[in-house]
Amino acid sequence: MNFKINDSVTWVGKIDWELRKFHGEELSTFRGSSYNSYLVRDEKIALIDTVWSPFDKEFIAKLSGEIDLNQIDYVISNHAEMDHSGSLPALMEIIPDKPIYCTQNGVKSLKGHYHKDWNFIPVKTGDKISLGKKELVFIEAKMLHWPDSMFCYLTKDNILFSNDAFGQHFANEMMFNDLVNEYELYEEAIKYYANILTPFGNFVEQKINEILALKLPVDMICPSHGIIWRENPLQIVNKYMQWAKRYQENQVTIIYDTMWNGTRQMAETIADGIKSKNKEINIELYNSARRDINTIITEIFKSKAVLIGSPTINKGILISTASLLEFIKGLSFKNKKAAAFGSYGWSGESVKLITEELSKAGMEIVNEGIKVQWHPGSEDLAKIYQYGQDLALKI
Ligand code: FEO
Repeated sequence: MNFKINDSVTWVGKIDWELRKFHGEELSTFRGSSYNSYLVRDEKIALIDTVWSPFDKEFIAKLSGEIDLNQIDYVISNHAEMDHSGSLPALMEIIPDKPIYCTQNGVKSLKGHYHKDWNFIPVKTGDKISLGKKELVFIEAKMLHWPDSMFCYLTKDNILFSNDAFGQHFANEMMFNDLVNEYELYEEAIKYYANILTPFGNFVEQKINEILALKLPVDMICPSHGIIWRENPLQIVNKYMQWAKRYQENQVTIIYDTMWNGTRQMAETIADGIKSKNKEINIELYNSARRDINTIITEIFKSKAVLIGSPTINKGILISTASLLEFIKGLSFKNKKAAAFGSYGWSGESVKLITEELSKAGMEIVNEGIKVQWHPGSEDLAKIYQYGQDLALKI
């Protein structure tokens, strides 16, 4: 169901209630998502973004119920990733000559995806189109989170269409931040930032500073996923500024995989040791084989220190640990201390291997880690507990 955001802007997107994985299998979306497309009516009419291709027929049908498609004057593609551009081919079949406004990188990406020579109009920051009484102003947002990403701003209504930035994978028919559960909204917003935007913190900070310097009034932020920020919209901008600046809470996250519970027992004993020296710190324990990897990544994002454990198997580490380390490496977390632990039978490489990977990921290694042969006995447990206590003093 389309709905009006104000007198001139109508939401014409798709709420995807069933979505449970995004980016192939990479990102869990426990609360579904939405692909937000916006129709802006003035003397001229602009369509901002579309929806993912599995919903293209539904999108075209609903949009056609809203407006004669030939009345659309401008198509705006803020971002070429297919969850937003996926219905462009179906739309452009019907209105093939209408101009598509996007960045120069957007032209390359859209041509790369769809191999069509549409009527592209490349734009830069500050370029604008007049809709009649109002204007749409374009703001390049390179690496937020693709090279082509762009925002646009509707004057007079003071709406920032921010595409992926400030979005969340959160299906909810209420659609406005003052109408949804705030805890759930922020849980999805930080998960989105941690799993997608973490590597681009410097760009986030620069872009927000650039936009704030323009001193544009912002009455609403309309992202391309999830909930629209209508009440105190700059709250999410301020949150992004915090998240972009080497963010951490008073938290340690201990992540392990285990074969016969030895490494699990190590994890729990390290946690006890840390807690004995620091009652205030929040300690989270996750079995990486049994918990959602994106939830773990979000907890790492919040942490000041991360401990990762795996037993040794075939001179290496368990698969869930290896996957997690690969994900961590790509995200380039800042301002995180780290160490490794694990049990072993005879060769015992796991701690060294995990430490090397954490170091490559840019984490500050606080010690050489701790390993235990076979299952930890009472002497081992005492050493591990002491290890946790020593660690508490370093983090
Ligand atoms: Fe929601 Fe980068 O696409």
